[in-house]
Amino acid sequence: MRKKLLLGNWKMNKTREETKVFALGSLALSALAELHGIDIGVAPAYLSLPVVKKYNPNLLVASQNVHYQPSGAYTGEISIAMLKEINITWAIIGHSERRTYDNETSERCNLKIKALLANEMTPVYCVGETLAQFEKSETKKVIKEQISAGFSEISSENAAKVVVAYEPVWSIGTGRNASSEIAQDVCSYIRGLLREKYGEVAEQIRILYGGSVKPENIKTYLSTADIDGALVGGASLSIESFKELINNMI
Ligand code: PGA
Repeated sequence: MRKKLLLGNWKMNKTREETKVFALGSLALSALAELHGIDIGVAPAYLSLPVVKKYNPNLLVASQNVHYQPSGAYTGEISIAMLKEINITWAIIGHSERRTYDNETSERCNLKIKALLANEMTPVYCVGETLAQFEKSETKKVIKEQISAGFSEISSENAAKVVVAYEPVWSIGTGRNASSEIAQDVCSYIRGLLREKYGEVAEQIRILYGGSVKPENIKTYLSTADIDGALVGGASLSIESFKELINNMI
């Protein structure tokens, strides 16, 4: 049985002080989620990572990015050792905003995924097609390329530790969420690709849907066969809506 997962992606939102307020306010939510066997967490800005850890050690905390090199002349980047030093063991890789604004390619994501796995960390690998690709019915072609490149040279033992997030670019922050039928179809396609490569191990890999997930629609995704949780941007920012998301997952 795959454990359900709710991960909030805060992007460039919340100061450390605002993070502290959220973390304290989420203490009861962590207890609720644990009671119902759900993993919950957030991916705040780098500066706020230790703040979440400090004020709610029960929340899973993910970095929004990481570099694949151990150290060096990479201005503005952050290394795995820096994350591990503050006990951060999860990182989002290949979010569409990083693919769009920072030229993140699937090949580069693969280097990051391999570096994280070598350090016993958990990558949340984001894939998804743009609106133009969706309209040209190229979704599965794009997904296949992203999954194949992202999982290149990854053993089945390690593949089981990766979380995949299907986030159609046209649905992120637009209020235009993919229907649960579309999302399930693509997530089941992703699991099929992983099954071709890893056999039964594919059944252990958690696949999330992301893109305008709200308390009102989260249940429809979670009731499908292949969607194991959600990666949520806007609706994860307020404690009230985060709470509603959890309540509607239960
Ligand atoms: P959204 O963002 O929920 O605001 O659409 C999702 C994401 O970027 O992960």
